[in-house]
Parts: sequence; C-alpha cells; structure tokens
Amino acid sequence: MLDQLKIVEDEGLKALESVQDEAGLEAWRVAHLGRSSGLMQVFAKFGQLSKEEKPAVGQRANEVKKALESGFEAKFAGLRQAALKRSLEQEQLDVTLPGRRLPLGRLHPDTQTMRELYSIFGEMGFQVFRSREVETDEYNFQLLNFQIGHPARDMQDTYFVEAGERGDNPIVLRTHTSPGQIHAMRWITAMNPENPAPVRIVLPGMCYRYEQVTNRHETQFDQLEGLAVGPGITFSDLKGTLANFARRMFGQNTRTRFRASYFPFTEPSAEFDVECFLCGGAGCAVCKGSGWLEIGGCGMVHPVVLRNGGYDPLRYSGFAFGLGPQRMAMLRHHIDDIRYFWQNDLRFLEQF
Ligand code: DAH
Repeated sequence: MLDQLKIVEDEGLKALESVQDEAGLEAWRVAHLGRSSGLMQVFAKFGQLSKEEKPAVGQRANEVKKALESGFEAKFAGLRQAALKRSLEQEQLDVTLPGRRLPLGRLHPDTQTMRELYSIFGEMGFQVFRSREVETDEYNFQLLNFQIGHPARDMQDTYFVEAGERGDNPIVLRTHTSPGQIHAMRWITAMNPENPAPVRIVLPGMCYRYEQVTNRHETQFDQLEGLAVGPGITFSDLKGTLANFARRMFGQNTRTRFRASYFPFTEPSAEFDVECFLCGGAGCAVCKGSGWLEIGGCGMVHPVVLRNGGYDPLRYSGFAFGLGPQRMAMLRHHIDDIRYFWQNDLRFLEQF
C-alpha cells in the first residue's frame, strides 16, 4: 500500500509539471484528486487494512494528499500569474507616454467681453438688470420719447411679432436694450413713489433689427446699456464714468472723446469714441485712418423719459449709455466679420 502511495505521489507530481493551462489543470485535478483517482482508491481500501498497518498508511496517505493539493495550488497561482503577465504584455502599456488631453470647453468671445464689462462696471457700483427681449412698441419706442411716426424710428428697423388688433402698440422684438431703462426705473420708483431710490445699473442682452446682413451688421446682436439716475447727476459724471471704463477696458492711457449726436431719449446726446488702441491714434485700417473708434452712444436722460420712469425731472437727473460688446470684441481680436459670432463654428470659437 505504501508503494502504491509512492507511485500515486510521483506520478501525480510529475504529471503536474507538464500542465500548461487552466483546462489542463482541471483535468489533472479530476485525475489525481478526484473520486476515482489512485489516491482515493487507497482511501477506499483503508478499511481492509490491519490495525498495525493503519497508522503508517493513514499518515502517508494524508501526506500524499497534502502534497498533491499544495502542488495544485502552486500551479494554479503560477498559471494565473503567467496569464496576467501575458495580458499586460499584449496591452503594451507604455507608462512614459504623455497623457491624453481632454478637450476643454471655453467661454464664447462675446461672453468673455460681457463678463469683463460686468466686472468693470460692477467695481463702479453698477448692478446688472435684465429685461425682456420681446417688448411692446410702447416700451421699445413711445416711453423713450419716440412718438408714433417719429422719424428716428427709421434708425431701428423693427421685427414685429404681433400687430393685428393692437393698433399703435404692436409687440416687437426689442431693437435696443433702452426699454429696460423704463422697466428698471418703474420697478424702483413703484416702491417709494414720493422719494424713489437712485439707480445705477447696466442692462445687457440681445437686440434684433431687420437689417441687411453684412460683415458689419447682423439681425441679432447684443448691447450693454447703462443707466444712472439720482439727485444732481451731471454730464461730467457721464464723461468720468465712460472715460474710466475706457481706461480699464483698453489700457491706462486710452484717450476718449465725445461728439454731439442725437437720440430721442437723451438730451444732450453724444457719440462716444476711444483712441484707436491698435495704432495708438496714429491712424490705421481698423480706425480708417482717423485714430478714433466709435464705441457707443450716450447722453443725459431726457426729462420725458425720467417722468415716464416715475422720477420727477426737477429733482432727479441721470445719464445713460449704450455699448456694443461685439464691436469691442471685434476690435480687440481683429475679427473682421460679425457673422462669425452666432454661427457656432468651432474653428472660430476655439481661437478664444
Ligand atoms: N439705444 C441706442 C441704440 O441702440 C443706443 C444708446 C444711445 C443707448 C444713447 C443709450 C444712450 O442709453 O444714451 O442705438
């Protein structure tokens, strides 16, 4: 019996050496440790042994079983290890390669400009006031002192949303952000009509005009309106505010100038220019040789507009301005066609 065990052990361990894979190992386990293996046959015949033989054979049989079992475990671990190594080799992981960059999103050049404007005016105490893009004729024009049939309406060709039964007050897409001035003033003055609080706000947003689309004109564009109303506000405050803004936006030494102009909702009105920051005022293609860039319109809020907003023009005065953020972004980044802004072409957007 002891001889038989010796053979079982030797043959088992020898067969184990030539096992190549997990399937082979399983076949080996069935053959050498399974129910009909040589080892189990020894265990089956154990009962027939004499009392004297039993201890030695029993001990030896257990030793052989342990040897085969631990041989199996070691082989199993070795095969797993080899498989892992093979798969790592197949992946050919080169840890010295640089990582793959994730494509990062970024802010639209117009959003960047807008945020810069908010922060500059925010430092000067202006809060952001948002107002609707769909307006009535009354807010877009009449309350801003454009009477019905006023020739200045021609400056702003209008998209009508609904005319029909509405007579003189059709619904329009706002042609400028100025109607927000009336909403803002009415909102503030309604809280305390006798002694309304002052306002100092910027009003950003989309505007729409029925324009011939060219590289300079789009039917959709945005504006940043400014409005300050309070007791004793003067044209000097307007000039100081815009000159300060220009220096923060375009550089410490930027010069500014104001040219007389006309808007129905301001009196006096002015056009606001900054010295061309591309050529330093010497004259170039962008400023068309003049040395100056037109940045926006401005003026002192017309008494009629103040009254429409709920302020007594004898006690309050104010200034207003309207800027074109896209125009500023175009000048700054040398963008030569306004149509790029809303086309969502990544080749354009990725440059900012
Ligand atoms: N609303 C004018 C426009 O779109 C721009 C403008 C000019 C706004 C003068 C103002 C201002 O507030 O004072 O053409």
